[in-house]
Amino acid sequence: MGGAPVETTRVGIVGAGPAGLLLSHLLHLSGIDSVVLDARTREEIEATHRAGILEPGAVAALVDGGVSDRVLRDGDRHDGIVLRFDGEDHRIDLKALTGRSVWLYPQQDVFADLADRRAADGGDVRFGATVTEVLEPDSRRPGVRFVDADGAARELRCDLLVGADGSRSACRRALPTEESRLLFHEYPYAWFGIIAQAPRSTDELVYTESEHGFALVSQRNATHQRHYFQCDPATDATDWDDERIWAELQRRVAGPDGFALREGPIVERSVLRFRSLVVEPVRHGRMLLVGDAAHTVPPTGAKGLNLAFADVQVLHDVVGRWLRTGDDDVLNDYRHRAGERVWRAQHFSSWMSAMLHARPGEEPFERRRRLAELRMVAESEHGRAFLAEGYTGWDTPPVAGP
Ligand code: DHB
Repeated sequence: MGGAPVETTRVGIVGAGPAGLLLSHLLHLSGIDSVVLDARTREEIEATHRAGILEPGAVAALVDGGVSDRVLRDGDRHDGIVLRFDGEDHRIDLKALTGRSVWLYPQQDVFADLADRRAADGGDVRFGATVTEVLEPDSRRPGVRFVDADGAARELRCDLLVGADGSRSACRRALPTEESRLLFHEYPYAWFGIIAQAPRSTDELVYTESEHGFALVSQRNATHQRHYFQCDPATDATDWDDERIWAELQRRVAGPDGFALREGPIVERSVLRFRSLVVEPVRHGRMLLVGDAAHTVPPTGAKGLNLAFADVQVLHDVVGRWLRTGDDDVLNDYRHRAGERVWRAQHFSSWMSAMLHARPGEEPFERRRRLAELRMVAESEHGRAFLAEGYTGWDTPPVAGP
């Protein structure tokens, strides 16, 4: 119909971010064909700054999954994080508490490793290909219409369609509203994120509560650092010059210990929204959603990419089993096995956010209550262990059946 040339593949994947590319890679290892479409160019995706913390499970997906071991060379292992409140540091020793560490390795690097691996393996990944319509997700031959990088209208049909197309997912919009619920929460604060050309100020991440609001000291490499501070969601990042940004960060991290950030030119600035979203169910016929398309978490704790990778690892198992058995009911295992972790991550991200951020107009009582909570978490071994377990991630339930 429409005369557009029709191509076919086993698994059609919309979205060439880390979730779509990891899925395509894992399917390739299992001998299953896929085509990945993304409206953006590779350069556009690579220029988008996202979070930088990988749980051990995500590192294993890259290294043991044969994508790349660059994370082990260019990334930094972090055995702990710091909670800073009342102007004092309280270290959470992730390694001692859980036996696990996290890795600082920016999402752009994860994306580049995956895109390079797919290219080296001859993967069919098409950048600049815009999906215009999702076709018959509940049929045996779902698909999409899309406009390719040369502006030509095309159609892709597949056995299974996967929406890995992020928080503004076109695939999600194709779910029937009478079947799917969107569970949504919007927070009354946002993060102002910067990249500064400066030496490291700390070796580990510092999550700071202060009377002036939250701030996070993160890193990128020897020459560039990533910091965030809580702001109003309506903030226009271009209104803030370097001097004002540094003054705001410095007053939030200040304390009796005299700690101060090392400053330098700010080369990137943007405002990040705080939203939680869960789509239930994430399957409609032969269309499934993964990663941000299926759920969004607020940035505190950097769970987004980790959750997307966990989804994809479960989905890869499920697709293999589905193709072996030919039973569409097997596709429901994806939601059952991935869903538990989604809600854990939702809780963890919103708990960390609520504990560390003042809501606008917060009463003095509420701030004192939050400080008591921070102190209980930081000073109790059980409290620290609870935080460390969430921060380093959870195991995914094992595969059921054949
Ligand atoms: C980073 C982002 C996060 O949301 C977080 O919790 C930790 C680190 C980062 O970009 O470095």
